[in-house]
Amino acid sequence: MDIRDNHLDEKNAPDLARRRLLAAVGAGIAAAPLMGMSASSIAQNLTNAGKATTASLNGGKTSASQAGEFLIGGDLRVSRLGYGGLQLTGPHKWGEPERREEAIQILRRLPQLGVDFIDTADAYGPFVSEEIISEALVPYQGFTHGKAIIATKGGFVRPDPFTDPWVELGNPDYLQQCVRMSLRRLKLERIDLWHLHRVDPKLPQTQQYEAIHSFIDKGLIRHAGLSEVTVEQIKAARKIFPVATVQNHYNLSFRKHEAVLNYCEDNGIAFIPWFPLANGDLTKPGGPGDTLAKARGVTPAQIAIAWLLKRSPVMLPIPGTSRLTHLEENVAAASIKLTDREFEQLDRLTRPS
Ligand SMILES: NC(=O)c1ccc[n+]([C@@H]2O[C@H](COP(=O)([O-])OP(=O)(O)OC[C@H]3O[C@@H](n4cnc5c(N)ncnc54)[C@H](OP(=O)(O)O)[C@@H]3O)[C@@H](O)[C@H]2O)c1
Repeated sequence: MDIRDNHLDEKNAPDLARRRLLAAVGAGIAAAPLMGMSASSIAQNLTNAGKATTASLNGGKTSASQAGEFLIGGDLRVSRLGYGGLQLTGPHKWGEPERREEAIQILRRLPQLGVDFIDTADAYGPFVSEEIISEALVPYQGFTHGKAIIATKGGFVRPDPFTDPWVELGNPDYLQQCVRMSLRRLKLERIDLWHLHRVDPKLPQTQQYEAIHSFIDKGLIRHAGLSEVTVEQIKAARKIFPVATVQNHYNLSFRKHEAVLNYCEDNGIAFIPWFPLANGDLTKPGGPGDTLAKARGVTPAQIAIAWLLKRSPVMLPIPGTSRLTHLEENVAAASIKLTDREFEQLDRLTRPS
């Protein structure tokens, strides 16, 4: 996986008071409404999670909606804990997954778990992730907020699966073909959320943003976002189209994009952290969340997700997995509410110096 980026090293520590105020005023966000759960059922879920081992925590009874919800672009309501579709692919994220049946089962379990936001990209597989999503979920009905919201991406190609580089390709005609082919594979008439997977540094950035504007104008996509961008790039893009989401590399142990996250928070833009589990590293013993996980009787993966959810009301994590048990474990993190003290201890451990 190419995780190249071109960003600022920011030191902005999270400011709890400012975030609480933002959560209170909304900024287009329905922060942690707990979706009709009574205090006693939440407490029961926490108790269940505390009793669980590592596998199917609380038997899948926790709903992702317990993480609260977010209005993407002001009109797409989703639970604030989604699913990332990169792991629906084969080795090197190329070709069909080794356990295809389980991939289908994972996707069909999502509505039962309250997950209605699914991230994918044409480059995953390539095409395989989008194809499996449509095979499993068309017509995308029966989800917590009605239909599933599928977010996909284009503009990042895979010339060779074995020599890692993913290559930016931002030619507007090519981007339009990306959109049209994603529409075909996903069996959609309009894509609810489309991301430019990477800004192509070989072309003027405005040319790529103007292409995105035209996709919205033509009705091919409803909302658009950017991936792996700086605050300056988001500001430049916002002069041309409304940036609904930003998807940057971010997790408990990788905090380079604090400034981008704060900018998104200030502007009501959803921040979708990719590698929310540090590509699996944060699920292992010995990581920053391990001690707290043991103390609370939950797993390090769940602490990493719970920390993200508390970090900002605009945070929309999309942990990826190829295992049903891990999906249920990850969704159960929606019911884990870290105290301010727990949050700050983890924050201090991992804050960039
Ligand atoms: N915009 C971008 O440039 C970009 C880049 C990368 C990813 N993404 C998106 O972000 C999503 C999330 O990132 P990611 O999937 O690459 O990484 P991730 O969510 O940080 O971690 C996924 C890895 O963690 C493991 N895992 C997941 N849950 C686990 C659990 N409860 N216990 C133990 N292991 C667990 C998975 O293995 P198992 O399969 O065995 O569970 C997998 O190896 C992707 O799926 C994709 O949609 C976007």
